[in-house]
Amino acid sequence: MDLGVDIILKLPGLIDVHVHMREPGATHKEDWDSGTSAALAGGVTMLLAMPNTDPPIVNSNTFYQTIAIAENKTRCDFAQFIGAGPKNAEAASKIAGNTAGLKMYLDMTYGDLRLVNMVFWHDHYNQWPVDSPLVVHSEGKTLAAAILFADLYNRPVHIAHVSSREEIVTIRKAKEKGIKVTCEVTPHHLFFSVDDYSRITKNGKYSGRIGVRPPITTSEDVRSLWENLDVIDCFATDHAPHLLSEKDSNSPPPGFPGLETALPLLLNAVHEGRLTIKDLLLRFYTNPRRIFHLPEQPDTWIEVDPDEEYTINAANQFSKCGWTPFEGCRVRGRLKKVVLRGKTAYEDGRILVNPGYGRNIRKL
Ligand code: NCD
Ligand code: ZN
Ligand code: ZN
Repeated sequence: MDLGVDIILKLPGLIDVHVHMREPGATHKEDWDSGTSAALAGGVTMLLAMPNTDPPIVNSNTFYQTIAIAENKTRCDFAQFIGAGPKNAEAASKIAGNTAGLKMYLDMTYGDLRLVNMVFWHDHYNQWPVDSPLVVHSEGKTLAAAILFADLYNRPVHIAHVSSREEIVTIRKAKEKGIKVTCEVTPHHLFFSVDDYSRITKNGKYSGRIGVRPPITTSEDVRSLWENLDVIDCFATDHAPHLLSEKDSNSPPPGFPGLETALPLLLNAVHEGRLTIKDLLLRFYTNPRRIFHLPEQPDTWIEVDPDEEYTINAANQFSKCGWTPFEGCRVRGRLKKVVLRGKTAYEDGRILVNPGYGRNIRKL
């Protein structure tokens, strides 16, 4: 019903549990300043940063060096994951309380952090504190193995970027059995299928732009994610910025940027009746806080106009990567304002807080 008035929704600041900041090592793609500006422009007031940087964050040196950079440059609140390597289970577990959690890469993706041999999985599942989050990148059958380990060690595990029917039905079964598994889904796996390749590629031709881990799936897989929404705990962007020149090169790195497009895409799905605001907040605020033990951000909220329509355009993004797979998508629902700890941090396309305003929420 059109009331002839503007309704502005006031919602909690969103929490994105899966973001790649690229600093240290690849600040031409993103850094703590540009990446957290992109977060605020997407309504995200708190994010958890992944450890597949260069060097990867796998020991206390690389961890605290990154934290020092981040604390100086971040504009939103954050915590930093530590990565699981073949020999760092004990050392990593000693600083667990300072981290967002432990990230284990069990399949091939961007960076060198893959743990192939299950011998090393045992060390980490065994030693990482049960009250600190453990997140795995695991696709297909590896996901089943990661869940088995959660059962073996009777501890929680969070599965990153679930993308397919075989994965989501396996997670449903594991949850029914009482295994402590939670999961997240990205907007690109909810809104793209292989039928959309021509929208993402350059002039409709195949290019590395469509490359992302896990890959974009079939329309049946996408349908199964929507049908199993009740077992999806979180929406997370997996904001993985790479320059367009890198994506169009002969060895394109996998990954899509996502911080600035997740909220409008989800609000658009609310408008289309595929989702409710309650569904959105449960997965982009309430569950992330519970699963990752995140503090409340006082005097923090976002304001959105659920009826404003616009076209997604990479030229307006704060991310350094300079592109989006959602270019040209028409969406209904727009972020107007972000207030972080009492201060207006974003309003009508402008970032209004300085680098360093954000806080490390795991600072002891
Ligand atoms: C991520 C990246 O670029 O860091 N890429 C991706 O395709 N998702 C790594 C990851 O999350 O697996
Ligand atoms: Zn991953
Ligand atoms: Zn990722």
